[in-house]
Parts: sequence; structure tokens; C-alpha cells
Amino acid sequence: MDKFLIRGGNPLKGTVSISGAKNSALPCMAAALLTPETVILHNLPYARDIITQRRLLEDLGATVLTPELRTHKINASHVEVFEAPYELVKTMRASVLALGPLLARFGKAKVSLPGGCAIGTRPIDLHLAGFEKLGAEIRLEAGNVVARAPQSGRLIGTEIRFEKVTVTGTENLIMAASLAKGKTILHNAAREPEVIDLCELLNRMGARVRGAGTETIEIEGVQALGGAEHTIIPDRIETGTFIVAAAITGGELEIKDCRPEHLQSVIDKLTEVGVEIEEVNSSTLAARKRKPLRSCELNTAPYPEFPTDMQAQYMALMTQSEGRSVIAETVFENRFMHASELQRMGARITLDGHHAMVDGPTPLAGAPVLASDLRASASLVLAGLVADGESIIHRVYHIDRGYERIEAKLRAVGADIERLRESVTGTLEQVPGDVAVA
Ligand code: EPZ
Repeated sequence: MDKFLIRGGNPLKGTVSISGAKNSALPCMAAALLTPETVILHNLPYARDIITQRRLLEDLGATVLTPELRTHKINASHVEVFEAPYELVKTMRASVLALGPLLARFGKAKVSLPGGCAIGTRPIDLHLAGFEKLGAEIRLEAGNVVARAPQSGRLIGTEIRFEKVTVTGTENLIMAASLAKGKTILHNAAREPEVIDLCELLNRMGARVRGAGTETIEIEGVQALGGAEHTIIPDRIETGTFIVAAAITGGELEIKDCRPEHLQSVIDKLTEVGVEIEEVNSSTLAARKRKPLRSCELNTAPYPEFPTDMQAQYMALMTQSEGRSVIAETVFENRFMHASELQRMGARITLDGHHAMVDGPTPLAGAPVLASDLRASASLVLAGLVADGESIIHRVYHIDRGYERIEAKLRAVGADIERLRESVTGTLEQVPGDVAVA
């Protein structure tokens, strides 16, 4: 299993380019299942989850051509399998995004029920309740969700109120409703930019979705959808991670190919902390740290509030800020796994249920640490960049799931970071820059 070796202390300087958003690419790839025509997606991140989603589509019978690394041409005209197996779903929960499109287009689907993960139990009850409201029959069989559309073969539009804001739940129901009979109205829907991006693709495919980005989304079902071409939005979480990387190392980064307006809450909070962030233009930010950082309270919440996917990176930054910051994680019930690893590096963090108290500034010391999930691993990389001495980050397969070649991007702006891979003889060997995502 790959590891990162980081020698901390280098202020990052230079330009970094942001990749496409994993959390938009995944639902957009699933949306290709809604039509027999070809869907072309550009600006896909070269990350492990995209490879897993591609494998799922191919296992279902779709063809996926890759004219170039970040472009996929997906054609689902010969889908003959309607099942997302446990083997795949256990590696990537977002496989459940196949449920809506398969049920809507083929009237049947079988998807392994995703179990819990490091950050929480993460049930999909709201997805399933929504499909039932659209007239589907849902059964749980041997760890699988087995879904059937009504006799007529088509789902039936209706009004659905989500008890809780759910991102993939909203996306699954929008895709299902796009081929349903009549109109569906989703209340308390997720407003994330990734939801808007999916709806832009669906409307290009001939769907009738209105209100994306608001709490109320209306979908007028159509008989069939066509092909389309679409460019995935930049990754706002990767953008936020690099802003923190500039600040925590006392460096200066130009961050290009991003969309500042998608992470306004992150920019506002980091500016409040004392990071200098300048919007150079609509796709470029400059971030630097000139003066000591201040500690600030933080509450995570659904968009447009501060994203839970930036909480771990923010915690790493707060270890270097003056005073006590109280972080409240309100979206997931167990998303402080990184705290104990940061403590191993010397951070002063106290946990109390959904709250973490971080006292700073504290000099960090390099240490071997263990990544537990995607964003936790990003926070450990950030801590390693400022720590004194060497850090070894184990299980970096987590970070490969959602960041494209992060060590190569960091090295290009001055970080001392290497990817190490255990050889068959058990020795650790350096992996050349561009062969990540094995
Ligand atoms: C999406 O996950 C993202 N993943 C997550 O990013 C992100 O953390 C999360 O939204 C919140 O922003 C993708 O888009 C692929 P939710 P999702 O349904 O849709 C509860 C990353 O790091 N809930 O919005 O699975 C749930 O347990 C990943 O890139 C139910 O109770 O999250 C959680 O507490 C991690 N029942 C809350 O709602 C349901 O049926 C929000 O979850 C669905 C959700």
C-alpha cells in the first residue's frame, strides 16, 4: 500500500491547477445510464473513484471510451445487467447513484446496500423513501436493495420533502424523476454546486429540471432522454485544500482553473482567520499568509454553509492559529478521525461529541500517521507540510480516491513529498511522480 513521506517546513510558492469535481463527475457518469445515446464528459478528475464508477458502468454493459485522460464517452445502449454488486459498492458508496437511473429507464435495479463508513452510518433511507413515493416497490434482500417500478414500467411524479438535506439523495431522485410520468417536486433539496452541474447535464440531455441550486426542485418527467456533451465543474474542495496548504506553510499560491463563487463560505471563513485570499479572476484565486492566523469557531452545514468536506483541513489549520477554536461537525456523526492522528503530531485537540476544541499555535512534529478517509488524509498531508521533520502517511489510497496526483501538484509548488510503495521484498521504494492511482 502506498504511503507519503513528507519533510515539512517549505513555504509553498507557485501555481496549481484544480481538477474536475469528483462529486459532480460521479452523478454525471451515472446519468449516462438514463439514455441509449452517447454522453461525453470533459474535465473528469483522474482519481480512483472515477475509475471505480467507470468499472461499474462497464459491468452494467455500458461502453466507456477515453479519447483523452479526462474525457469519457459513455454509451449505455446495451445495458443488460441492473445490479451494482457489494464488491463495488463497499469500495465506493456513490455507486448507489446507479439506482435512480436504472430504476427510471429499465424499471428495475439491484444495488448492494452500502454499509457505514469511517465518517458515519450513512444510511440511504431517504433515497429509498423517495423512490417509494415515486411508486417503486423497494425490498431489502440479502444485503441488497431490490427496486421495481410500477406495472406500467414508469415511475410516477409526485411531491417529496426530504427530512434532511441529502446530496446524493437529491441527485438520485432528480435522475429518477427525469423519466417519470408527470411532475415531481423535491422540497428541502440539496443546493450544492455539484447538484446544479448534474441538472445542467440532464437538461442538455432533454430533461426538464427547474430550480437547481434552490431548496425546491421541479422535474417534469419526459418519455426519453438523449445524448449530450458536458464539462464537469472544478473541484471546490480541492480548491479549499490548496488555500489551506498556502496558509499553513506560510506560502503563496496562485490557484487556477477553479470557481471561487462555489466556495464563498470557505473563502469567508479563511479570510476571517487571517488568510489573504484574492479573486484574481472568475477562475483564479491567489492565497497567502502574511500575519499570524486567528482561531475561529466553525459549524459545518449543507451548502451554502461551510462544507463538512473542508472540516478536517480547517482543523489542521487551527492547530497553527492563535487561541482556541471550537469546530462543530453537524453533518456526519463521526468525522473527527483525523484528530487523534493530528494529536500524534503534537496538536492540542479535545473532542466532545460533535465538537472539537483546538488550541494553537502548536509546533507539530513529523510522525507516522494513519489516514482513515478521504478528507482526513488531506488534513494529515497539510499537517505534514508544516511539521518539523519527517511524517509518513499510511493508507494514502484514501486520498487517491478524490485528489488527482496531489503529491505531484504539491511538489510542483515546493513541497518535499514522495509517494512510497512497498516492493515485493517489503522495502519501501519511491514511486515516480505520475504513476499514482494504481
Ligand atoms: C455527499 O455524500 C458527498 N459525496 C460527501 O463527500 C459529502 O460529505 C456529503 O455529500 C455532504 O456534503 C458525494 O457527493 C459522492 P448526504 P452523501 O446524503 O450524499 C444523512 C467526500 O469527501 N442521510 O448529503 O452520501 C447522512 O448520514 C464525500 O468527497 C440520511 O440519514 O451525503 C448524513 O448525516 C464524503 N439518510 C447527512 O444525511 C439518507 O438517506 C448528509 O448526507 C441520506 C443521508
